[in-house]
Amino acid sequence: MSHLFSPITLRDMTVSNRLVVSPMCQYLSKDGNAEDWHLMHLGQMAMGAGGLVFTEATHVSPEGRITPRCLGLWSDDNERTLKRVIDFCKTHGVAKMGIQLAHAGRKASNRPPLQGAGPLAENENPWQTLGPSEVAYGDWPAPRALDDDGLAMVKAQFVAATERSARIGFDVVEFHAAHGYLMHQFLSPLSNVRNDRYGGSIEGRMQFPLEVFDACRAVWPEAKPVGVRVSATDWIDDGLSVDEVVEFCKALKERGCDFIDVSSGGNHPGQKITLGPGYQVPFAERVKREVGIPVMAVGLITEPVQAENIVASGQADFVALARGVMDNPRWAWHAARALGAQTDYPPQYARCKPDTWRAAPAVMAPAAE
Ligand SMILES: Cc1cc2nc3c(=O)[nH]c(=O)nc-3n(C[C@H](O)[C@H](O)[C@H](O)COP(=O)(O)O)c2cc1C
Repeated sequence: MSHLFSPITLRDMTVSNRLVVSPMCQYLSKDGNAEDWHLMHLGQMAMGAGGLVFTEATHVSPEGRITPRCLGLWSDDNERTLKRVIDFCKTHGVAKMGIQLAHAGRKASNRPPLQGAGPLAENENPWQTLGPSEVAYGDWPAPRALDDDGLAMVKAQFVAATERSARIGFDVVEFHAAHGYLMHQFLSPLSNVRNDRYGGSIEGRMQFPLEVFDACRAVWPEAKPVGVRVSATDWIDDGLSVDEVVEFCKALKERGCDFIDVSSGGNHPGQKITLGPGYQVPFAERVKREVGIPVMAVGLITEPVQAENIVASGQADFVALARGVMDNPRWAWHAARALGAQTDYPPQYARCKPDTWRAAPAVMAPAAE
């Protein structure tokens, strides 16, 4: 029996297997709207690339976008265009659909990677970024520190985007508190040097992310799960530590968080990451063990047996893939075959299962039409 291809239930949502399509920015939105590209990109993933498919980081405000081409969910137009995509995925796909809600904080106002990444120049309509403190990411422009009104505004933006996500019909919402974006900036002592109740020890630094979480959990349907993506470490001395992240995850669990998606890094240009197959899995395992909450492992998980072992050994409850499923959106189908397991296909594609047609020529059934 495959553990990777066994179902799991969070609140009232049952996912048919443990594979997750990780959020992947596409940088193809205008004014935050989902385009035909998203229909194609998320549509193909919803056909079974994972039991659960996440949207890319979907920003709660225009100034919270990483780039001007990022997906957003602050306007009625954003809601309408994204609903079209998610309705399509739910009608024709076999996966549960999740949204990742995000605010880039001091890492906003950037160029899309294909245009050379890095902060927008003066002639490219840059905007004033926001952050916990006026501490810049490397040599990028310093953010404006959020005051009480600013904090209330950002929280309200997350709440409004959560309400829109519920109306669209998403099965899951995940808040992005990783990769150096706003919530991570609050958590990390590298970016949060506040001396009010939102700074100082980890209790202070996690205060604002927890307030946002509480406010959003309150408007998200009780029956549907909510998770948070964290960076388990800043990979730099004096940065956010795994112990502190475990504290944050414990507090999230107490507040009704259903899973933690465990990534790492992104908050300092000087980070020294030790890369290798499954390099973030030990962080996921530690959060699971010490917090007692379902976790997703992500990062350089590329082989079916590797993914199977991560779930079977209890290191993680889910395995998320990004580049591997972009390379091969049918990764899950082939992995199921390699592991002798079954997985879901849309009915229209059921006839491509090799055991139904790639038999010996004498017994090959002809196509009916
Ligand atoms: C093109 C691309 C876009 C990404 N965008 C996001 C994103 O929107 N939100 C996020 O949390 N991570 C994002 N990531 C990180 C992935 O979700 C994932 O954590 C990372 O790529 C490691 O997994 P992999 O080794 O399977 O690719 C992105 C990665 C790629 C390659």
